[in-house]
Amino acid sequence: MNILAIETSCDETSAAIVKNGTEILGNVVATSSDLHLKTGGIVPEIAAREQLRCVLPVIKEVFQKAFKSRGSEIVKNNIDAIAVTTGPGLIGSLLIGVETARVLSYLWNKPLIPVNHLTAHLYANWLNTGKKNPAPKFPALCLVVSGGHTEMIIIKNHNNYLYLGGTRDDACGEAFDKTARLLQIAQYNGGPAIAKRAQEYLDYLPSQKPISFFPRPMINTKTFEFSFSGLKTAVFNKVLSLKKDHLFNDLAVKKFSYEIQEAITDVLANKILLGIEKFQPKSVLIAGGVAANQRLKEKLELKIKTKHEVGFFIPPPSLCTDNAAYIASCAFFNNHPLPWQKVSANPAREIID
Ligand code: KG4
Ligand code: ZN
Repeated sequence: MNILAIETSCDETSAAIVKNGTEILGNVVATSSDLHLKTGGIVPEIAAREQLRCVLPVIKEVFQKAFKSRGSEIVKNNIDAIAVTTGPGLIGSLLIGVETARVLSYLWNKPLIPVNHLTAHLYANWLNTGKKNPAPKFPALCLVVSGGHTEMIIIKNHNNYLYLGGTRDDACGEAFDKTARLLQIAQYNGGPAIAKRAQEYLDYLPSQKPISFFPRPMINTKTFEFSFSGLKTAVFNKVLSLKKDHLFNDLAVKKFSYEIQEAITDVLANKILLGIEKFQPKSVLIAGGVAANQRLKEKLELKIKTKHEVGFFIPPPSLCTDNAAYIASCAFFNNHPLPWQKVSANPAREIID
C-alpha cells in the first residue's frame, strides 16, 4: 500500500510516498528556516505563506522522485491513500496541508487519514525496517523530544498508547534553542549550534572531566515529568556574571554549550532508565528533532546496551526532524481514514487521541 503524506505543522513543508509503512519511495522537505533566521524565530504568518508557496511543488516533486513520472493520471493511480498532519502545530501552517489533502482526497477519491504529529515522530523508527532491520517490538518505551514537546509514552501495540508524562514548562528542544540564544550562537534552531560548540570544547580539552554546574531538575523524581526552564535561568545568570567580568568569550561559550548538552541529555537518559526499570519494555524508541543529538544517542546506547536486554531505536538525523515519511508510516500502522469533510486542523491536539 502506497501512502502519500503531507506534513506542514511548523516551518517545514514536506511530502512523502511510503510503501507499506516502511519503504520510502520519495521524501521531499522544503524549509523556511532561512527566513526565520532573519526574524530570530518562527513568525507564524511567514511560515504559513511559505507553506502555501511550497506545498504543490513539493507534492509534484515527490511523485517525480517516487515514480520517475510526470503524468497526473499515473500519479493518482500510484497511491492508495493520503495522510496528513492535523496537529499539534501552528494553525496557519497546518491549514495549508490539511486543505491540500482534503482537496486531493476529494478529487482523486482516495481515503484520507488524519495523523497526530507527535506520535507520528516515533514512526520514523519503522522506516527502512524489514527482514534485515527488524521493526521495534512491543511494548515500546518512547521519548518524543522536539522544539515543543518532551513526552514519554508506552506503545503497547499500534493504536494502543499509554501516556506517562512530559514537561511541566519548556520542552528540551526549547531549552537548547533558548540557551543558544543566550550564548548568542543561534537565533533559531539552537540544538545543532550547541552540539557543534560542545564537540569543539571536547576537541579542545579531550581529557577534561565534566564540571556539571548547571541544574538537572527532576532528574531523580520517580515520575516521568521534566522541567527545563530552570536551566535557561541558570545559563542566563552565568552569562550575565561572565559578561560583567568581561570573561564571556569563545571558550566560555563552548564550555557552556558542553555543560548545557550534558545537563539536558543526563535528564533524558535517566528518565529512560527509570522507564525501563518500571515497565520492562522490549524496545526503547527516541524521536523528534532532539533525537538528532549525537551525545544523547551515545549516552543512551552506553547505558541501555550495557545493562538491559532491550532493542534501542533512534532514527538517522534526517528522519528525526520534521518530514512527511514518518507521517505516512504512522498512517499505515494506525489506518483510520475519515471522510474528507470530517478532517480538520487542530493546533492543540494532544499527544494521544
Ligand atoms: O521535531 P522538530 O524538527 O520540530 C518540532 O516539531 O519542534 O524539532 C526541532 C527541535 C529544535 O528545538 C532544535 O533545536 C532541536 O530539535 N534539534 C536538536 C538537534 N537538531 C535539532 N537538538 C539537539 N541536538 C541536535 N543535533
Ligand atoms: Zn516535530
